[in-house]
Amino acid sequence: MGRGMPHGHEDSPSLSSLTSGLAAVGPSLASCGYAILDGLLPPCFALALHDEMATLHQQQLLRPHRFGFKSSPSAPVRIVRKPHIYEAELSEPHVREHAASIGTVSELVASAAGAAFPELQLSPGPNGEGTAVKLQCNEGHGGCFPLHFDNAGPPSCRKLTCLVYLNPSWAEGDGGELELVPWLAPPMQIPPLGGRLVLFRSDLVLHRVLPSRARRFCFTIWVDGARTNEDKLVLPESRSAREVCAELGRSGAQRLLSRAVYAAEYEASLAACMGSSEQLCAEMVAQHRAHVAACDASGPLAKLVHAARELKRELAHVAAEVAAGTTAPIVAAAVPPPPPPPSDAQLQPATRAGTAGAEAPSVESDAEAHRTARAGSSALTVRLSACACSDSLVRASVLVL
Ligand code: FE2
Repeated sequence: MGRGMPHGHEDSPSLSSLTSGLAAVGPSLASCGYAILDGLLPPCFALALHDEMATLHQQQLLRPHRFGFKSSPSAPVRIVRKPHIYEAELSEPHVREHAASIGTVSELVASAAGAAFPELQLSPGPNGEGTAVKLQCNEGHGGCFPLHFDNAGPPSCRKLTCLVYLNPSWAEGDGGELELVPWLAPPMQIPPLGGRLVLFRSDLVLHRVLPSRARRFCFTIWVDGARTNEDKLVLPESRSAREVCAELGRSGAQRLLSRAVYAAEYEASLAACMGSSEQLCAEMVAQHRAHVAACDASGPLAKLVHAARELKRELAHVAAEVAAGTTAPIVAAAVPPPPPPPSDAQLQPATRAGTAGAEAPSVESDAEAHRTARAGSSALTVRLSACACSDSLVRASVLVL
């Protein structure tokens, strides 16, 4: 990177300390799709980042979050607001001018991630290539984000999401937790504590932001990677839908099924985010339901969706039994285990009540994802053509070849 390289804050972490810190969570990132790091940013530096963000917001350099929504594929795009959310791109000169420390740490984190996770083939280049940084303020009042993937499908090349939280006085009850929903595993809630760094795979980890009742600052660094979105959804004759679904946690192909598998959760999160705009919310919910219905009606895709729902239910039972002190070895052997509990005592297990949701439409993520699947014992080859985005209706057509 180095876009008008800002002068670093004197307490800025070194590239070597960040790289070794990130490398230490490499196994967690590889096995669970996410990792949480506390203490990598010196407290003084984290405070400097917070002050930069607060000043930017005070100077009204963060703008209301807007996104495009189409109620149907043929409908015109409407630009609508996401309530209580303000954002800016670091690449904007007038923003970067006031965000020297954020610029410095963004470059360092992207470079450190590239060095720490060679298997991801990340591509942070000079002058900010292969990296995007967004600054965000959630004003509270229930501001939140519905379930989504940061990489909704081609042409996005986002491979790794790095979130830096800047809320030194966050307290229980403030809300605004990040909720990660690793494929079929129980969700987990992560408080947005000051100086906390959360990493997760942009193409693999479904997530949302829970309603915030206090002002909340963060910035996100997205790093592109080679060979992103090359996953294929393959159902060979020798394998059942259940076996294939159990392995989708490591494949971006899970995005084809996500809305249908997490239908109720998507819908509830959409209502939490957009509920104040009654008509718009109703249209989004209708679109989501139509998408789910299309998935349920499309032969091989429906078979996978059904198997995934079943595994999800079983894993929820496993989690409940583990919490109660018992185990369920049959399921544990059949599917990847749920992520280990975080070591940080402040990480909260997600409660099912009030944590469901759907996703917000956005033109930028309205990308078509194409997958090829080989289905069933008849070796039927199908092409799944689906809008794997957070937003628009997955035009889940299944074309038998
Ligand atoms: Fe996100």
